[in-house]
Amino acid sequence: MKREVKSFVHVRSRTSKKDLEIFEKFKNKNFFDSKEVSHISKLLPEKKINILEIGFGDGNNLIEKAMANSNMNFYGIEVFKSGIASVLKQVQIHDLKNICLFYGDAKDFLVKIEKPFFDFIFILFPDPWPKKKHWKRRLIDQNFLNLIKQNLKEKGRLIVKTDWQDYADDIKKDFAEFKVLHDSNVLQSLKPIQTKYEGKAIEEGREVFTYITDLNA
Ligand SMILES: C[S@@+](CC[C@H](N)C(=O)[O-])C[C@H]1O[C@@H](n2cnc3c(N)ncnc32)[C@H](O)[C@@H]1O
Repeated sequence: MKREVKSFVHVRSRTSKKDLEIFEKFKNKNFFDSKEVSHISKLLPEKKINILEIGFGDGNNLIEKAMANSNMNFYGIEVFKSGIASVLKQVQIHDLKNICLFYGDAKDFLVKIEKPFFDFIFILFPDPWPKKKHWKRRLIDQNFLNLIKQNLKEKGRLIVKTDWQDYADDIKKDFAEFKVLHDSNVLQSLKPIQTKYEGKAIEEGREVFTYITDLNA
């Protein structure tokens, strides 16, 4: 018998009028409900390099990287609607043509889309779920990494940053069979900016762990 897999993704239901307006404006152009997407390669004018950021939060990294790398396409998936709305506002202000956002759970999205499509997948400071009894809610585990692997092109790279020591230890174990780099300077223009959650970690004195690996090398 197939066991039911519970989703622990917190989906906020209240959306402000302004956010609804921006969703309406970009709906099915630069913004999609992930449930309605399968042919991701048709959504933006084709570029050689495709980047996905999972759980982009306020989206500052996604916007900055898209602005700095107009020769690449940037995709983001989030369950936090206000974050999506604030990125769409920036897309509007800067008239960005290389960003596409999805609302929904990254797991469902990665199962559904055509693959492999991405050259880089970023997961910056995934929710840590600090209590041990909640660790099963963490996004990154072996099953999720297999899914990421299917979605990365040959030599495609996964980049994970976390400030949570025991999460970092688990990720290290999951990556045991791969060559892992820790210096994000190798990413050159894609090196992530300091995100909101990285800022919090530094302020509170927590070490930040960076893992960069070619899952299909
Ligand atoms: C701790 S925040 C980090 C935000 C941002 N990356 C940063 O570093 O500031 C984690 C983000 O992941 C999003 N998230 C959690 N689970 C997700 C999932 N299954 N699919 C998509 N986004 C998810 C949350 O809504 C939240 O915005």
